Parts: sequence; structure tokens; C-alpha cells
Amino acid sequence: MADIHSWLVTGAAGFIGSNFVHYWCTRYPDDRVVVLDALTYAGNRNSLTALEAHENFSFVQGDITDQALVEALLRDHQLDGIVNFAAESHVDRSITGPDAFISTNIVGTHRLLEAARKVWVTEGRAAGHRFHQVSTDEVYGSLGNDDPPFTEEHPYLPNSPYAASKASADHLVRAYQETFGLRTSISNCSNNYGPYQFPEKLIALTICNLVRGKALPIYGTGMNIRDWLFVDDHCRGIDRVLRAGKTGRTYNIGGGTEMTNIGLVQRLCELADQVIGESAELQARYPDAPASKGRTSASLIEYVSDRPGHDWRYAIDISRIDQELGYQPLTDLDRGLELTLNWYLNNDQWWQAVMDGSYQQWIDSQYTAGR
Ligand SMILES: NC(=O)c1ccc[n+]([C@@H]2O[C@H](COP(=O)([O-])OP(=O)(O)OC[C@H]3O[C@@H](n4cnc5c(N)ncnc54)[C@H](O)[C@@H]3O)[C@@H](O)[C@H]2O)c1
Repeated sequence: MADIHSWLVTGAAGFIGSNFVHYWCTRYPDDRVVVLDALTYAGNRNSLTALEAHENFSFVQGDITDQALVEALLRDHQLDGIVNFAAESHVDRSITGPDAFISTNIVGTHRLLEAARKVWVTEGRAAGHRFHQVSTDEVYGSLGNDDPPFTEEHPYLPNSPYAASKASADHLVRAYQETFGLRTSISNCSNNYGPYQFPEKLIALTICNLVRGKALPIYGTGMNIRDWLFVDDHCRGIDRVLRAGKTGRTYNIGGGTEMTNIGLVQRLCELADQVIGESAELQARYPDAPASKGRTSASLIEYVSDRPGHDWRYAIDISRIDQELGYQPLTDLDRGLELTLNWYLNNDQWWQAVMDGSYQQWIDSQYTAGR
């Protein structure tokens, strides 16, 4: 790959993007990183506090649908790489309000592509540029229990408005490579977890609820299967694709860790009981956690009505990125859960700040007791 040392990273006030810029600025401190983020409900400047003093890092609040702004950033900062994390990312919200998903995930990606085409291809400002689209395994649809994991050749069969919007964006990225010669790549990743994840997603929500003694909602039977990847391993995978991946190519990134949702939540509950049970300081800080009262966190599990169109199973085949780019995840599930739990236990000011009244009301309204 051409040497790229100046990046526009979109959506990096969100979960994976913020982990990515921490990773990148630590590993490649001489690279210039400009973050563009609209700071929606999911964006949080506090996730980037540690980078504010970094001399090659800057933050711009703005929308990826604003093509003129993106073009100006590419020209003014002489940026020759884009990593697009910006998205509406929560499946439940795509069911109750799909419009924002169409706007950001499809139209926004298109505006970014147009800006990149204009500045890099038409104006010829960056011959060795790269446009990288961060996508999801959800574009491939759902697997049965005995189906082989998704390869990059699996047909796109999205089931939720979220997955359909990400699938549309992937098709646009591919078309801009084929039609206009934009140098692109796409990574399709499985479920991530780790620090800075907004507490509407399963693992972050489970931790933030259990320490406050609140119900732990589980959709349907809890037997849906996901492949979990610690976020740092996702960042390493994108790094491999940016550094060594072929343009015009798609790479799956996954953890090889298939778990049922209920199995995962039970594991997290046991871990929390152990960690909080052994620490008088944590018991004092989280008096409502079951472990602080001699009870089990699993007693908080509550089955709720299933999500419409809920995909049954995701599993991802990472042979391509392994064989072509030498990538393997490094953090196993037990270690990743431990790191994540400890991060949330020690950063309650981060998640308490986003758990404000209106958010709590929204989250409570999502789950209705089913059985
Ligand atoms: N979370 C996962 O498990 C997972 C797995 C695979 C792929 N992905 C993909 O990775 C990317 C990041 O996911 P995440 O979980 O970090 O999402 P997130 O919801 O935590 O963060 C999204 C960020 O995008 C910003 N944003 C939203 N709309 C914007 C707009 N119009 N303009 C500029 N910024 C905007 C938000 O403010 C927020 O900071 C998404 O594209 C998602 O589809 C996520």
C-alpha cells in the first residue's frame, strides 16, 4: 500500500472509532488524525479526552452528509486516507426509526465517497489514497445452527433496516472502486465489545445494569448466537487491512468466539460476582449490585419479547485475512470480558454521564417483560 500518514476518521467519538484512534495515535504517533463526528446520542467527546493533548490529533464536529465540509477537510489537512466508522449502529433503533439509518449510513457514505472522488481522483491530490469502509457481518443475514460461517463470498441478505443500510453502503463503496477508480477496501466485522461502548448494546448494558441492581433484559429464548470480538482486535484487523490489504477487496474480521446471548450474560454475571464479591471498595461503590448483597447477578436476568426479524446466528470465517494478512485475534473471550468489566467498574463517571434521564427512559421503553 502507498504510504498514508494523514487520516480522516469519521464517527470516532463512538465506540469502535474512539478505540481505533486511541490505538492509531499510540501506535503511529507521527500520523495526522482528523476526527469528524456529528456527536449524535452515541458520540461522546469524553471518549477522546486522552487524545486532546496529542499534537497530531484534531476533532471536528460535523456531519458526513456535509460533502463541502468533507472536501475542505481533505484539502486543507492534505488527508489521503478515510476510515469511515460514522453510522447509526443500533438495530433496535433502526426498527423504531429507520430514517436516520438511511441518511447517515447510505447518503452519508455516498457523500464521503463523492468528496473523496472529487478531491483525490478528479483533482488528483492523492494518488495513493485509501477509502476504508467499516462494515458488519449483519449484511450477510442469519445462519442456521449447522451452516458454515460467513465467508466474503456469502450473498448479502440483510434482515434489519440497519443491516440493509450497511449493505447499501458496501455496494456503493464497491461501485466507486469499479466505476471511478477510487481505491477502497471494506471490512465486515462480528459483534464488538470493550471500553467506551454505549450502554445500549448487550455487554455494556448488562454491566451498567447489574452494578445498579437493574434487570438484565434477554431477548426471546436467549439462544441467539453471536461471534464476539474484543474491540482492540478489531482495530488491529483494520490496521492490517489498511497497511497490507489489497484495494477493492473485502475482509471479514471475527473473534471465532460463538456464544448464545444467555450464555454470554451468565458468564458476565459470574465474573461480576467474583470481581465485586472480592472487593470491599467495589461493594461500597456499587451497593445495589447483587454481589454487594450476597446475591447472584444472574438473579437479575429477565426474558423479554423478542426483537422483530431477530437474526438467529452469526459466525464469521476469517481465513482470508488470516492467510493474506496474517491476522488472528489475540484476546480470548474470558480475558476480553475481564478487561471490559474492569473498565466499566473503574470508569463509572463515563457511563453515568450518558445514562441520563431521557436515555434511561428510552432504554426502559425498549424492553417489555415476555416470560
Ligand atoms: N458495534 C459493533 O459490534 C459493530 C460490529 C461491526 C461493525 N460495526 C460498524 O462499526 C462502525 C462503528 O460502530 P460503533 O459501534 O462504534 O457505533 P457507535 O454508534 O458507537 O458510534 C457511531 C458514531 O458515529 C457518529 N455519527 C453518527 N451519525 C453521524 C453523521 N451523520 N456524521 C458524523 N458522525 C456521525 C456518532 O456521533 C458516533 O460517534 C459502524 O459503521 C458499525 O456499523 C459495529
